[in-house]
Amino acid sequence: MEEQARAVLDPAAYDFYAAGAGDETSLAEAPGAWRTWRLLPRVLRDVSRVRTTLDLLGTPLSSPVLAAPTAFHLMADPEGEVATARGVAAAGSLLVLSSRATRRVEEVAAAAGPWWQQIYALRDRDATARTAEAAAAAGAGALVLTVDAPYLGTKPRVRRPLPLPDNDLTRAVGLHTRGPGQEQDPSTGPEAIGRLHRLTGLPVLVKGVLRADDARHCVQAGAAGVIVSNHGGRQLDRALSTAHALRAVAHEVGTEVPVLADGGIRTGTDVLTALALGAHAVLIGRPVLWALAVAGASGVQRLLDTCTEELSDAMALAGVRTLSEIGPDLLTGP
Ligand SMILES: Cc1cc2nc3c(=O)[nH]c(=O)nc-3n(C[C@H](O)[C@H](O)[C@H](O)COP(=O)(O)O)c2cc1C
Repeated sequence: MEEQARAVLDPAAYDFYAAGAGDETSLAEAPGAWRTWRLLPRVLRDVSRVRTTLDLLGTPLSSPVLAAPTAFHLMADPEGEVATARGVAAAGSLLVLSSRATRRVEEVAAAAGPWWQQIYALRDRDATARTAEAAAAAGAGALVLTVDAPYLGTKPRVRRPLPLPDNDLTRAVGLHTRGPGQEQDPSTGPEAIGRLHRLTGLPVLVKGVLRADDARHCVQAGAAGVIVSNHGGRQLDRALSTAHALRAVAHEVGTEVPVLADGGIRTGTDVLTALALGAHAVLIGRPVLWALAVAGASGVQRLLDTCTEELSDAMALAGVRTLSEIGPDLLTGP
């Protein structure tokens, strides 16, 4: 699908979506890292009915495969994030809406099923608060505070300007004229978690954690969940693959709060591996953008449905019927 998307996307848009930071080592390693694990299937279980349903922070979902927050969907589809939201909802999944979205939050919310709002703690704290409050008012089920980007990672492949319209929204996210204070606040500490929770009453998940000690600090500071991520290899290059960071984080906090993971997850077997390593759900980033560029909302739905069907098949062959039956005993190696 990436090749098909590349054929239809503006080359600058393709490079923006595909890029990783630095020499793209983390980007290149991510998918292969999932494939280093080996499965130990259980046999002689009744797997005539397999279910991929779950409850995530009180929200019932048909699949643990969620859409990661990614910027600027208008470059992939004329309806942008509205089309993404429709496709994700049709798949019974959950959208994490980027704070760098190119459609208004109210428009996206109107098309969405369950959705969460991704947030950066900006130098301009009032702007951060406005984004969080607007998301809460529009019906977001949670906030996702991304913490792996105190500064924007350098991506040599990205060229500007990007093929986006010049409007209020693209200006607000600093695409055309960078507003003062619109960049991330590099002095942000764990107190930002409680601040966002008190402001909105919403659960706050923290995205971009790779270490067990950081996960513990986040939970102590009030995080309702932790997302193991290296930002799809777009921030610190050579950051550890999430396939190798996940287990320690899940071991530290996974019985207290949901632990999610993203980065290079491309097949249902990758999802099964992540769940066996302790994730409650996973997110996929770039493939959603490719699907959106190739076939709009229905492409996004088909992508998520396919991944969920692959997961269901892998579960049956591994001898598990429900997500809660997936445990660390299914894995060995690397
Ligand atoms: C084009 C692009 C834009 C992204 N924008 C954001 C963003 O605005 N906020 C955020 O928290 N993460 C952002 N991410 C990171 C994703 O949420 C996610 O961590 C990553 O894409 C997962 O890896 P994958 O693309 O290999 O599935 C972005 C990733 C990509 C590829």
